[in-house]
Amino acid sequence: MSAPSSAVIIGATGILGAAITQHLSDRGGMGHLTLVGRSAHKLDSLAAMISGADCTVETVAADLTGTDLNRLSRAVESRAPDCLVITMGDHARTPLGTARDRHEEILFANLTAPLLAIHAIAPLMRPGTITLFGDAMISRPMTGYSTYYAAKAGITTLVETLAHELAPLIRINALLPGILNVKASAGPDAEARWAARVPLGYLGGVGPLLKALDHLLDNPYLTGALLPVDGGASHTPGA
Ligand SMILES: NC(=O)c1ccc[n+]([C@@H]2O[C@H](COP(=O)([O-])OP(=O)(O)OC[C@H]3O[C@@H](n4cnc5c(N)ncnc54)[C@H](OP(=O)(O)O)[C@@H]3O)[C@@H](O)[C@H]2O)c1
Repeated sequence: MSAPSSAVIIGATGILGAAITQHLSDRGGMGHLTLVGRSAHKLDSLAAMISGADCTVETVAADLTGTDLNRLSRAVESRAPDCLVITMGDHARTPLGTARDRHEEILFANLTAPLLAIHAIAPLMRPGTITLFGDAMISRPMTGYSTYYAAKAGITTLVETLAHELAPLIRINALLPGILNVKASAGPDAEARWAARVPLGYLGGVGPLLKALDHLLDNPYLTGALLPVDGGASHTPGA
């Protein structure tokens, strides 16, 4: 299997999605990128940032509900995608009493939409690789995030079951980030507090994740792999 040349990135406008978009555009052999996110404005800004790269770029503003998913399939079918990266997700709190609609939105963003996107795009990939994003901390979950973690547990099961179903032409794996970064709004000492929970002593940021992505894309014997990129955080008692 040669290096990917036509990638679809769903969740491209997020922190990791934007870094992955830039990284894939810099990889040798990448000919075309299809960037998917909800905000046309954010997609345009991202596309402008990588406009100097050798590959062509197309944006699809979509929230991945029914008609948007059909539109996405039509947009990528002529592109012969050989790489699908789905970073979309919503790390949201759902304490007891959360309304049913909110649970459904979070399940949709973290599990249902990735599942539907795979069903829409995998038949167009002959051959290719799919990379999903789970969460290394499902074994050390934060209180109040049960819906998010349940959905992310579903991502690991998706990878394990689809690895059989999609083989041998398509490989599917997942990266499991731990605590890679904290939002600026989290406060001045947030990074130090979270870093104290990581055995390696710091928050890794996107660099280690991009290296791990390359490994999943380039190693032709990997499918069904769940790769934590967490500095050991998921193995720390009480983390
Ligand atoms: N960053 C971390 O430390 C960390 C840790 C563990 C796991 N992860 C996982 O890694 C992935 C990427 O994380 P991140 O930090 O880059 O997240 P992020 O910055 O919040 O980005 C999330 C992306 O998902 C998209 N999205 C959310 N709901 C959507 C919907 N209904 N339809 C279409 N797109 C939707 C967002 O689009 P909009 O721009 O339109 O909102 C955005 O592009 C996520 O799956 C996350 O759960 C991250």
